[in-house]
Amino acid sequence: MFTDTSIDLFSEIKKLKKEKNAIILAHYYQEPDIQDAADFIGDSLGLSQQAAKTKADIIVFAGVHFMAETAKILSPQKKVLLPDLNAGCSLADACPADKFSEFKKKYPNHIVITYVNCSAEIKALSDIVCTSSNAQKIVETLPKEQKIIFAPDKNLGRYIEKQTGRKMVLWDGSCMVHEIFSLKKIMQLKEQHPKAKFIAHPECEESVLQIADYIGSTTGLLNYTIKNQEKEFIVATESGIIYQMQKASPEKIFIPAPPNNSCACNDCPHMKLNTLEKLYLCMEYETPELIMDEGLREAARKPIERMLDISAKAGL
Ligand code: 13P
Ligand code: SF4
Repeated sequence: MFTDTSIDLFSEIKKLKKEKNAIILAHYYQEPDIQDAADFIGDSLGLSQQAAKTKADIIVFAGVHFMAETAKILSPQKKVLLPDLNAGCSLADACPADKFSEFKKKYPNHIVITYVNCSAEIKALSDIVCTSSNAQKIVETLPKEQKIIFAPDKNLGRYIEKQTGRKMVLWDGSCMVHEIFSLKKIMQLKEQHPKAKFIAHPECEESVLQIADYIGSTTGLLNYTIKNQEKEFIVATESGIIYQMQKASPEKIFIPAPPNNSCACNDCPHMKLNTLEKLYLCMEYETPELIMDEGLREAARKPIERMLDISAKAGL
């Protein structure tokens, strides 16, 4: 544990970035201090696009394991550091490779589209990777008669089915953060704030999505709050995103949608394992580093690159 309180972590991190030609990529669900120290803050698609094009020697990934893994897959010659290697993802854990491999065998002639929130092993078993911001576009690029397996998030899968009018075979996985929003408490909030727009991430359950004014990835949600004229927003996703929403629109009010427990907002315990202190330490000592088997990396690269190609062509 780091204890020297005399160190100014922000200026030390800045110094280390320059010395080591490092870039800090952070997801919106990271704590505010980490977002302030980052060079780029984004959703999963934006972060992977940055990881693919950066000229830095070191990528410091302030996010969860599958995100850092994706960065390593796209930039194998770079050192990829993750402040806490234990930062996992309940959605990724809900789809073990051996079980998914068996599942796939039951559906021959199906194309496998997997949400980026999965392990490299699952990506290696996939045809195309997607994120919440390009999933619909990717499904729409496939011929109508093409059968599809969609994994691991059933909520995103169901939402894409509705958007595209196509039936897909869904893996039964979900995110521990997005599946526990309380519909009852959200309805109460909507009554108390009748003008507020209710916005939700597509990882939320169908009943929550049904009452949303806007559904989108974290970047989509942030942009909606910037462009929309309304002054109040009820936000159903991990509460970390509210920091950037408030920064971009200080005059607006952002209310986190409550979960069905005693908490007022929803935090991802995996994302929140990273701290500014751990960020500094991982940059100073260049550990923990994300190391990958080369064969697995190569197998997982193709479906991610297909996603990036489709996204670039679609202007995403
Ligand atoms: P996006 O930021 O791509 O919308 O993903 C949300 C999420 O749950 C990441 O773990
Ligand atoms: Fe995984 Fe959900 Fe946390 Fe995102 S918010 S990292 S999907 S557990």
